[in-house]
Amino acid sequence: AASPRVLSGIQPTADSFHLGNYLGALRQWVALQDTHEAFYCVVDLHAITVDYEPAVLRRRCKVAAAQLLAMGVDPDRSTLFVQSQVPEHAELAWVLGSITGFGEAGRMTQFKDKSAKQGASAASVGLFTYPILQAADILLYTPEPGEGERDFQVPVGEDQRQHLELTRTLAQRFNHRFGTTFVVPEAYIPQGAAKIADLQEPLSKMSKSSSSPQGILDVLEESGPLRKKIMRSVTDTGTEVRYDPEEKPGVTNLLRIYSALAQTPVTDLEQRYAGSGYGQFKKDLAALVIDTFTPIRERTEKLLADERDLDRILARGAARAGEVARGTMDVVRDRVGF
Ligand code: ADP
Ligand code: NA
Repeated sequence: AASPRVLSGIQPTADSFHLGNYLGALRQWVALQDTHEAFYCVVDLHAITVDYEPAVLRRRCKVAAAQLLAMGVDPDRSTLFVQSQVPEHAELAWVLGSITGFGEAGRMTQFKDKSAKQGASAASVGLFTYPILQAADILLYTPEPGEGERDFQVPVGEDQRQHLELTRTLAQRFNHRFGTTFVVPEAYIPQGAAKIADLQEPLSKMSKSSSSPQGILDVLEESGPLRKKIMRSVTDTGTEVRYDPEEKPGVTNLLRIYSALAQTPVTDLEQRYAGSGYGQFKKDLAALVIDTFTPIRERTEKLLADERDLDRILARGAARAGEVARGTMDVVRDRVGF
């Protein structure tokens, strides 16, 4: 059977990806290329649903794509592209929006969370319909239904489960109403994905929207600041390097990071640092983070130094994605009566 197809997207909403993005998602993007036919998308249409600056957005798309390549996304094996370069995303979103109930869309908890921050009536309609665009992002890359029952997977963290559920509902509803068109995508729980907390507030997740600069480790950050932040990260009273999410959330978060980066079980780390206190542990962790990020930063800088190559890679990705997307839309347009 053909290898399963996988689709994932990431927003270009920061100047750098952070350690949470890397360990929670992007490292798995790289690994999945060995087993899946991957479509990876920098989702700039999603990024304009909140306040933004056009020039900053354009720059961040490039920097995001460069980082993905630097991390190991291989444009010869995977299709890497920028969402706005494939207009079918917006077109399919309109069609899917027309089979989505207003109340159904209103139950999306991420919209409630995000809009609560700015006052619900100040939020854009685009932010409200965001999960429908996400459904389109996914369903455009459906394998042909019946094509050897090829698997279709979407890696999802907890926060995206509800959106994938909506995507599945819309795929089934469309198939039922207009004839089988989409393979219903499955949630894929990536191996080794870790949830990373803020270094200063270990009960909250590391996040570009809520972490202070001291709590977040950026992939493109220099070694000095990275080391400083790790050495100053919040630990707990006591000195024991022990995994204990209740009593020791700070140390537990650092252990998770160490374990994920070194691919070493937490219990081995607890043994290795038994009796040595937090200092040596943090020092070694800093070295590990720096060894991971430095080559990614250097490759990113190189890719951004001459953007022609980068632009060519993205144009090639958009052409390949567009081919698949147009194939899907040809069927959709016919089915819905256009
Ligand atoms: P942020 O929370 O910084 O805004 P996004 O929501 O854009 O990041 O998330 C992009 C991807 O990175 C998603 O797949 C998300 O699950 C993952 N991710 C974000 N923050 C973390 C984290 N702290 N730990 C693990 N994964 C994370
Ligand atoms: Na977020």
